[in-house]
Amino acid sequence: MNIILTTPSPASGDLIVPVLQSDSLADQLARLAPTLGLSTEVLQRDFKAEAKEVLTVYSQNGQKIYLLGLGNDPQEMDWLRTFRKFFFDQKRKLSAMLAIDLTSFDGNVVAGVVLGVRGGGYDLKLYQTDKPETPVFYTDAGILSLQVNPDQHTAAQEALTRAEAIAHTQLQMLDLMNAPANYKKPQTLADWAAASGNQFAYSVTVLDKAELERQKLGALLSVSQGSDVPPVLIIAEYKPEGVENPRKVGLVGKGVTFDTGGVSIKTSSNMHLMKSDMGGAAAVLGTVEVAAKLKLPIHVIGIVPSTENSTDGRSTKPGDVVTAYSGKTIEIIDTDAEGRVILADGLGYMVRNYQPDVLIDLATLTGSVIATLGYHAAGLFTPNDELAATLTQAANQTGERLWRLPVWDAYTEDIKSDVADVKNYSGKPFAGAISAAKFLEVFSEKHPAWAHLDIAGMAFADSEFGSQKNATGFGIRLLIAYLQLILAKKE
Ligand code: BES
Ligand code: MN
Ligand code: ZN
Repeated sequence: MNIILTTPSPASGDLIVPVLQSDSLADQLARLAPTLGLSTEVLQRDFKAEAKEVLTVYSQNGQKIYLLGLGNDPQEMDWLRTFRKFFFDQKRKLSAMLAIDLTSFDGNVVAGVVLGVRGGGYDLKLYQTDKPETPVFYTDAGILSLQVNPDQHTAAQEALTRAEAIAHTQLQMLDLMNAPANYKKPQTLADWAAASGNQFAYSVTVLDKAELERQKLGALLSVSQGSDVPPVLIIAEYKPEGVENPRKVGLVGKGVTFDTGGVSIKTSSNMHLMKSDMGGAAAVLGTVEVAAKLKLPIHVIGIVPSTENSTDGRSTKPGDVVTAYSGKTIEIIDTDAEGRVILADGLGYMVRNYQPDVLIDLATLTGSVIATLGYHAAGLFTPNDELAATLTQAANQTGERLWRLPVWDAYTEDIKSDVADVKNYSGKPFAGAISAAKFLEVFSEKHPAWAHLDIAGMAFADSEFGSQKNATGFGIRLLIAYLQLILAKKE
């Protein structure tokens, strides 16, 4: 399906008219009623423009028109969710030619619309043998015309370009996240990154197991010990051409392709969801790809330590002490706190080899952050107020919410080890997301602009796509918005 911008014109094919639940709703409906051949009274009674409300009507000349409610004061995420649900629900009924009347709106609403339309075409049934045919609208025959006012054309075009770039990347990340562990190994992530780097002209280096041993990434290696599939460290680097001294942003993402818990094994009830324990990796690899596609004038380095966390005779055992890349020693109290252990090497590798101006890590790190914030926000951890403010601004813009939690030194007690430099778990069921952040802070090596995002509750969520939790693609929109904010601030 192709998405094009058009000026207001009589649409051929189906038409979607988004409607806000504003004070002027009654007037809007009164204006619409005659075209639909309806009485104003009936229309006002039957359509309240609640978020996601749909009223399907046929105009006098037979055109199918959907009124789509957006509720009151919708933000980008509301546009996205409303359109995603609409397209997901209606896709088999849509004609190949479709128009959306955006003439009453700002051009920048196009971003949420496009992300929603693309998202609504997503199909979770990756492995079903009786896959239904692609709905005609989502085939190459499909054309979506976004009708915008001429004075909004530039803003709309910009939003369209950015949203298309993000949407295509995000859909691939959904597939990677939703892939089960027998289809997805650390090397699968590395192959994806290498192919993407080739396509969008950025560099990808993959350290294999032998190289990890040679360079002594002992923390990552210790987590991978119990698995028969080898670990990798993926380094994806996008450097803009012709930009003098671009800002350098380092992103580190947890890439655990399956987390059994290791010897400290998890209970079985929700263990299958742990195929998605690479949401941080998806956000980081996706963001580097989008930055390269959009040719943002900023230097982005993504590092993904990737491994399985499995049980085996060779597995790391509770009490073991391992030496991280930075030379610091870690006492493994609980092998299920593996994310922070591999991130220790990811962060250490970034800091020692790339010296980024800003260092951000993302990880599906703790159940504790879900207990704290539920499924509505990721935890934001940083001692840097300015970085916290800019990330929060990006979060509010995109609706990929962040909420800041403390990283006071009072919590350092939790990760003090008797026998090693640090331990990976306090042994207590309190403030688990915070002590995990304090652990990571050690391996950021006092970086002045480090932030950790615990996305455990956000990477996988309930949605219209299926009955079980499934991938959201969380983090790409957030990080791209963040990059755009710091680019705007610099000017
Ligand atoms: N991958 C999990 C965290 C997680 C839990 C992500 C639920 C998504 C949903 C992580 O590796 C983990 O197992 N964390 C433990 C740490 C604990 C043993 C200190 C946890 O949160 O229970
Ligand atoms: Mn774990
Ligand atoms: Zn994990």
